[in-house]
Amino acid sequence: MAKTATHYVCQSCGSCFPKWSGKCEGCHGWNTLIEEATVDAFQKKTTLKAQKIDFTSLEDSSPPLPRFLSDMNEFDRVCGGGLVPGSVLLVGGDPGIGKSTLLLQVAALISGKTSCVYISGEEAADQVRLRARRLQVAESPVQLATTTHIGDILKSLHQEGPVVAIIDSIQTMYVDHLDAAPGSVSQVRASAHELIRFAKKYGVAIIIVGHVTKEGLIAGPRVLEHMVDTVLYFEGERGHHFRILRSVKNRFGPTDEIGVFEMTDKGLQEVSNPSALFLPHRTEDVSGSCVFAGIEGTRPLLVEIQSLIAPSSLATPRRAVVGWDSGRLSMILAVLETRCGLTCSNRDVFLNVAGGLRISEPAADLAVAASLLSSLANTSLPHDAIFFGEVGLSGEIRPINQQEARLKEAFKLGFKSAFVPKTAKPYSFSEMALIPLAHISELANYLEVKPKQRRAYGG
Ligand code: TYD
Ligand code: MG
Repeated sequence: MAKTATHYVCQSCGSCFPKWSGKCEGCHGWNTLIEEATVDAFQKKTTLKAQKIDFTSLEDSSPPLPRFLSDMNEFDRVCGGGLVPGSVLLVGGDPGIGKSTLLLQVAALISGKTSCVYISGEEAADQVRLRARRLQVAESPVQLATTTHIGDILKSLHQEGPVVAIIDSIQTMYVDHLDAAPGSVSQVRASAHELIRFAKKYGVAIIIVGHVTKEGLIAGPRVLEHMVDTVLYFEGERGHHFRILRSVKNRFGPTDEIGVFEMTDKGLQEVSNPSALFLPHRTEDVSGSCVFAGIEGTRPLLVEIQSLIAPSSLATPRRAVVGWDSGRLSMILAVLETRCGLTCSNRDVFLNVAGGLRISEPAADLAVAASLLSSLANTSLPHDAIFFGEVGLSGEIRPINQQEARLKEAFKLGFKSAFVPKTAKPYSFSEMALIPLAHISELANYLEVKPKQRRAYGG
């Protein structure tokens, strides 16, 4: 009888079974069995013929390999300064966000300098050509192919020898030795594994597209993130025309770097000064609006934070947040209540980072607090002021990193004052008026927030 090439492995306890079942007999977990290829006789034989490996020093005498630049600055910067030969880059994102558009544009730019293939498993060649015409890159020497078979792809890449290859998308690819359908965890993992092995062996830079599934993870579990060298997410809000390319893992460069693009009818346009994009729609003298000077990766970025506090008719008032962490909003509300005597317990609180950007820095705490205070008091904040600082549980305002870079960016965009954390060693920035704050109650006093609900400070 032929030996089966696959078995089912429990992802939590590692038990192996010849057949799939809903429950693992080893750890009694549900839905944990995943089909995997068995180590076949060939690999066993090679293990028996094992040889001693050579160890080398960390010192590298050869010059660093040149990176491939696409000359799309936003893309190159997020990659950490261009594509590294032999590396595998994963671009994840919701379906329809613009991954294929971005990569076709990148392919067109790269192909002007070096050989680049674009392999689509999702669209027919005519559809890709139509898109290329719309993006005005139809004349670029990109080599296009449509297939979903990993074996065919690797053989063709080996024979054609391109320097950069784009695979769109990994969920449509399959390998022969697994029965599972394309898009299943085992197929995605096996296909990516083959591509990664090929990239390392032949020094080809491979870009893989991966759709984020309903759970917000690439191909179900985060099966690919740990295998590839670089993970970029392409994000954006539906209804907003700009998109953000964010690096979350990079073996060859900094993470948390972002690139900002605008989706137009001719494809994605780079936005080199994002602060100017996120701020222009501000209206003057409106309560709850506040400008936060943030840092995204290596770049300062000014965004508007808006809040609205309205009387609630619900037993449990609503807390709705767009673009920020809801747990952190609850924390700021609790600090305002306990340390400043302001209560929102019978009101709905809405917080929005204007423009669809997502902020994860704790430095935005002070800006959020200022926005909430302004909304509670129904007074507007100074129009030409920016805010940054971390708020602690006792209401203290803590210094954060790169304060000067934030101030410089704000000054460049015409802001005149800044509410900043008080530091032990005062620092100066002569171009702007600085208002150092040590405690959140100072901000409440400064803004003269005196709603009816205010109790004694420290309450
Ligand atoms: P696409 O790149 O196909 O998304 P993904 O590969 O991530 O699934 O992008 C599709 C969306 O982009 C679609 O809703 C239309 C929009 N789009 C434009 O607005 N302008 C353009 O020039 C192109 C090509 C697409
Ligand atoms: Mg696509």
